[in-house]
Amino acid sequence: MPSAANGSVPCCLLPRDLLWIFVTVLGLVTVLSAVAGFAVRVSRARDLLHHVLARLVATEAETRLLHFLSQHSCIKTYTMIAAKLLVLATAAHALQAPKVARPRANALHASTDLESLRFLSNDDARQVAKDYGTPTYVYDAATLRARAEEALAFPNAYGLTVRYAMKACPNGAVLKLFDSMGLNFDASSAHEVRRAMRAGVPASKCSLSTQQLDADAITLMRDEGLEINCCSLSQLDTIGTALPGTKVGMRFNPGLGSGGTAKTNVGGASSSFGIWHEQFDEVVALAKKHDLEVVRVHTHIGSGSDAEVWKRVSSMSLDLCERLGDSVKTLNLGGGYKVGRMAYETSTDLQEVGAPVTDNFKDYAKRTGVELKLEVEPGTFLVANAGALVSTVQDACTTSGKDAGNDFLKLDAGMTDVLRPSLYGSQHPLVVVPSDAAKDADAATAEYVVVGHCCESGDLLTPAPDEPETLAPRLLKKAERGDLLIVESVGAYCSAMSTAGYNSFPTAPEVMKSTKGAFVEIRKRSSLDQLLQNEVSVDAAAL
Ligand SMILES: Cc1ncc(COP(=O)(O)O)c(C=O)c1O
Repeated sequence: MPSAANGSVPCCLLPRDLLWIFVTVLGLVTVLSAVAGFAVRVSRARDLLHHVLARLVATEAETRLLHFLSQHSCIKTYTMIAAKLLVLATAAHALQAPKVARPRANALHASTDLESLRFLSNDDARQVAKDYGTPTYVYDAATLRARAEEALAFPNAYGLTVRYAMKACPNGAVLKLFDSMGLNFDASSAHEVRRAMRAGVPASKCSLSTQQLDADAITLMRDEGLEINCCSLSQLDTIGTALPGTKVGMRFNPGLGSGGTAKTNVGGASSSFGIWHEQFDEVVALAKKHDLEVVRVHTHIGSGSDAEVWKRVSSMSLDLCERLGDSVKTLNLGGGYKVGRMAYETSTDLQEVGAPVTDNFKDYAKRTGVELKLEVEPGTFLVANAGALVSTVQDACTTSGKDAGNDFLKLDAGMTDVLRPSLYGSQHPLVVVPSDAAKDADAATAEYVVVGHCCESGDLLTPAPDEPETLAPRLLKKAERGDLLIVESVGAYCSAMSTAGYNSFPTAPEVMKSTKGAFVEIRKRSSLDQLLQNEVSVDAAAL
């Protein structure tokens, strides 16, 4: 313990000295960074200084602290210096905060690896651009077939129905291809059922799980054999009233959620999909009232690629089946198998997630004597990596100055064709294909922010993962105006979720690469006439 007798500092002076040291160190660091900051951006520093000073004065706790310190005359000077230096430090720190947030771990990973084309060659892409223009979606029949075969091999104990969640990509050619392979269909509206029927799929091969039960759905159920999973108590009541004594499925929200972001989570208390599991008794009462036979339980929570989640959700769902009794013959566990789009992401192994589900079904049969049939309804899994968008770099620009600068590539496509990055911060591989084949082997790369053609700052193809509003420059092959840029893995929820028509851009055409390698047009580009066909021409004088 130090003492005054041996020349050490008296105890009562210790806090003041500590403050001294603190202020001196802080001062040195602060002055250095402030000087650096000022040297780089003097004008911005002045603005920030004013801003921070205003905050400093306005904050009650800080004002009181300054008042307390200034009561002690011996440290008053230090206090004033420290306060000023704090202002400078904050200003210098703020100066260094990048306006463009650099991507987090997996995006950084992405920025060091160039992505590659999945099923198109560079020559294919140039051929598509020449024959159909850009932007154009291209789907790959071979990939669609391979994924369908994989889904049809989903482990099961007592029978399996694979339903393609047609909302992911409802083009008739895709529906026909899957239909020919023995898949059934999951529809999310009566309109989708009608669309499937137009592609030659009978309504009896479709099951409907919808947020909005239109009268047409009841008609399709009564006349065409459509299966409906009631997604709310009112839907159950409506069907029971219209078609008493009929067979129905019940979609429950089992209270467990999964999904990449809040926007894609479809289970748990924050989700409106399905009947909340605690309303089970009301389901039983309504079914009894209308003499309905509950033959199917449905739970789609977007279970992902984690076998443990699949095991838990299947157990919870089997519990609901058991409570409903042996009228239940089928359990539908929905879709939601995660797919790796970027090279560093992995796809769901169906054999791995399916194995524990099979065990659960066997246990259930031992317990209840009922051998339940399994239904799964993947969308993403079947089509995501079977689609690519061929677009053109139609412009470019560079920014610099007081904010971190960026090199932008502007496509002739964007949120009109691939909305997922703007909506969820989803990552899609981007691959530059030179317009001139002689440049295919060029190795030069550059970091680009890739944007779409809409007058929206949110029309961004390179957001940070799960952060749609944050620019995350991506390392790409060096590009020039006129080069092609292929947005990969756009088979699911891209064409289907298009915002085409915004800024009056047309709907892009769709082309299928057949297993023989030929390109077959399966949807034409829309015209301005089609965009305006339902507009009613009125005279301004009448308004
Ligand atoms: C009821 C239902 N089933 C299946 C799917 C398909 O999900 P995914 O495309 O993630 O496989 C969805 C997607 O929203 C759904 O709502």
